[in-house]
Amino acid sequence: MEWCSITCRALVVSMVLLLYNMLLISSPPAAAATTEAQVEAEAEALRNSTWWWYMENTTSHHCTWEGITCNTEGHVVRITYSYIDGKMVELSKLKFSSFPSLLHLNVSHSSMYGRIPDEIGMLTKLTYLRISECDVHGELPVSLGNLTLLEELDLAYNNLSGVIPSSLGYLKNLIHLDLSFNYGLSGVIPSSLGYLKNLKYLDLSINEINGSIPYQIGNLENLTHLYLHHCYFFVYNLVSFFVVLGFLLISRKTRKIQTKEIPTKNGDIFSVWNYDGKIAYEDIIKATEDFDIKYCIGTGGYGSVYKAQLPTGNVVALKKLHGWERDEATYLKSFQNEVQILSKIRHRNIVKLQGYCLHKRCMFFIYNYMGRGSLYCVLSNEVEALELDWIKRVNVVKSIVHAVCYMHHDCTPPIIHRDISSNNILLDSKLDAFLSDFGTARLLHPDSSNQTLLAGTYGYIAPELAYTMVVTEKCDVYSFGVVALETMMGKHPGELFTLLSFSSTQNIMLTDILDSRLPSPQDQQVARDVVLVVWLALKCIHSNLRSRPTMQHISSKLLTQSPFLGPFHRISLWQLNALEI
Ligand SMILES: *[C@@H]1O[C@H](CO)[C@@H](O)[C@H](O)[C@H]1NC(C)=O
Ligand SMILES: *[C@@H]1O[C@H](CO)[C@@H](O)[C@H](O)[C@H]1NC(C)=O
Ligand SMILES: *[C@@H]1O[C@H](CO)[C@@H](O)[C@H](O)[C@H]1NC(C)=O
Ligand SMILES: *[C@@H]1O[C@H](CO)[C@@H](O)[C@H](O)[C@H]1NC(C)=O
Ligand SMILES: *[C@@H]1O[C@H](CO)[C@@H](O)[C@H](O)[C@H]1NC(C)=O
Ligand SMILES: *[C@@H]1O[C@H](CO)[C@@H](O)[C@H](O)[C@H]1NC(C)=O
Ligand SMILES: *[C@@H]1O[C@H](CO)[C@@H](O)[C@H](O)[C@H]1NC(C)=O
Ligand SMILES: *[C@@H]1O[C@H](CO)[C@@H](O)[C@H](O)[C@H]1NC(C)=O
Repeated sequence: MEWCSITCRALVVSMVLLLYNMLLISSPPAAAATTEAQVEAEAEALRNSTWWWYMENTTSHHCTWEGITCNTEGHVVRITYSYIDGKMVELSKLKFSSFPSLLHLNVSHSSMYGRIPDEIGMLTKLTYLRISECDVHGELPVSLGNLTLLEELDLAYNNLSGVIPSSLGYLKNLIHLDLSFNYGLSGVIPSSLGYLKNLKYLDLSINEINGSIPYQIGNLENLTHLYLHHCYFFVYNLVSFFVVLGFLLISRKTRKIQTKEIPTKNGDIFSVWNYDGKIAYEDIIKATEDFDIKYCIGTGGYGSVYKAQLPTGNVVALKKLHGWERDEATYLKSFQNEVQILSKIRHRNIVKLQGYCLHKRCMFFIYNYMGRGSLYCVLSNEVEALELDWIKRVNVVKSIVHAVCYMHHDCTPPIIHRDISSNNILLDSKLDAFLSDFGTARLLHPDSSNQTLLAGTYGYIAPELAYTMVVTEKCDVYSFGVVALETMMGKHPGELFTLLSFSSTQNIMLTDILDSRLPSPQDQQVARDVVLVVWLALKCIHSNLRSRPTMQHISSKLLTQSPFLGPFHRISLWQLNALEI
């Protein structure tokens, strides 16, 4: 029995040894021991960092320390450090190479100082890195490009300096990049940022970045927020296009326009026609310091918009297009034809194209500059929205009707805007409205005639475009209807659409949807105009394009009296909907 048990024990031991040896061959050596050593190294690195100096006399396990999260194996996966009382701690005191499992590092708004060490590039599993609102200085390490799993990188509100390393272009998973308010980041924006296909948010504002915006930024299809310098703008994407939320303008007098077209020896067309025939290419370059970022007031997938004061004192908006890759000959021809059409447009409610430059290196349009910015901006501003009273709002709508009607019915061939939205209605200092970005979408898609790439702004696109992709005048009518409602409601009518589709319009009163920031119109005539506008707008947003009126029809209706529907406060949307145009 004793023998047997010894033998058995020996057998068991030898089998265990055998298994152990097999394990040694088939898997990394001493995995358990390595884990333990690694966990101990992490604990030691945390103790040595002095970040948790207030824990120095305690024996509690490091995984229980404030802001530390470990996984089931005991590896630190998350560090959130926000201690601000007591002493300053140095960022580089934490030995980053000791944390191979770290996924999340947040030392935002803490008493952290020092430089960002190169060693940060060892945290290759990191998905979230935020060292913002600290006292960190020095340059951004190139090794940040090692953190290819990063989705958010926020180093804002520090004292960082030097250039933005182009290695950031390796961070293919990045969604959010914020380097703003460092004051000292300088040099140019690396074109490699154009590789960050997932980027949605990019903020480099309040730094000393100069040079021009690399056109590769236009590749960032997912970008919804872009902040550069003191500029503030959005880039909407369906297809990318401009939306300038800048401070656009109008010149006081429209003077006589001269056209000057100089085909150069390369066949490049350079044409600038303007008030006095005096704007020269050199003036534009000088006024913008060769399109320096500090003159930029907006940017988008197709290019950037700059504000420039010319030697004559006139202020213009320059829309500089990015380079083009498509078949050059066709593109140039098409561009020229379109420009010729646009240059002939003369309407007091359309922002005037003052000139253009078509050149291999640089392609831009020159427009009047509008002082009050877009209708969207004015409606979003509590003070300016009040200034835009009912009379002015009705006038804004009438101006848009005149502009679009002119395009659809007085131009041969008719021109379809394709992108009417509150962002493309610009207001001058007297709050008179001007349609802008006319034909941009078609200009930029010369190969599309009626069939089109979807161009337009989400929330303004006629529903049929979702399945037919055929652009007709009725698409503009729909977008106009949305803008007209928005003007009366003070906000995008998205919620109203939902209400209209889910509940009876019978119990929605007109007064319920009007902008509540303005007092109800007191004057009878003004009240009637408001009713008229809402009625026509509701007709324009009809889901069946054949039921929508034409711009001509709307224009003629605007000259008539609104139908009498009883006292203003008793008018319901149902009544307005039921009334045939
Ligand atoms: C921690 O500091 C001690 C001495 O202060 C040093 O011997 C040790 O190597 C350090 N450990 C780590 C992980 O930095
Ligand atoms: C830790 O203990 C030492 C010696 O008793 C003391 O000087 C030090 O202030 C303590 N540290 C903290 C954070 O309490
Ligand atoms: C990072 O830390 C800051 C400050 O403590 C906090 O406001 C923020 O929510 C943290 N971020 C995440 C994702 O936990
Ligand atoms: C980048 O990551 C690799 C591991 O993937 C590591 O070996 C290398 O040292 C890191 N480079 C830097 C500069 O941190
Ligand atoms: C920022 O860093 C620069 C040097 O890089 C230094 O001269 C300056 O004093 C720092 N500013 C602050 C507020 O720390
Ligand atoms: C842009 O910034 C860099 C680095 O600060 C500087 O060397 C260069 O002169 C600046 N260029 C212009 C046009 O200001
Ligand atoms: C970015 O856009 C592409 C399509 O253009 C899409 O497939 C991808 O999921 C988007 N990424 C994110 C993070 O939204
Ligand atoms: C575009 O539409 C117009 C009328 O809407 C039609 O006359 C014309 O033939 C169409 N062009 C193409 C290329 O389909």
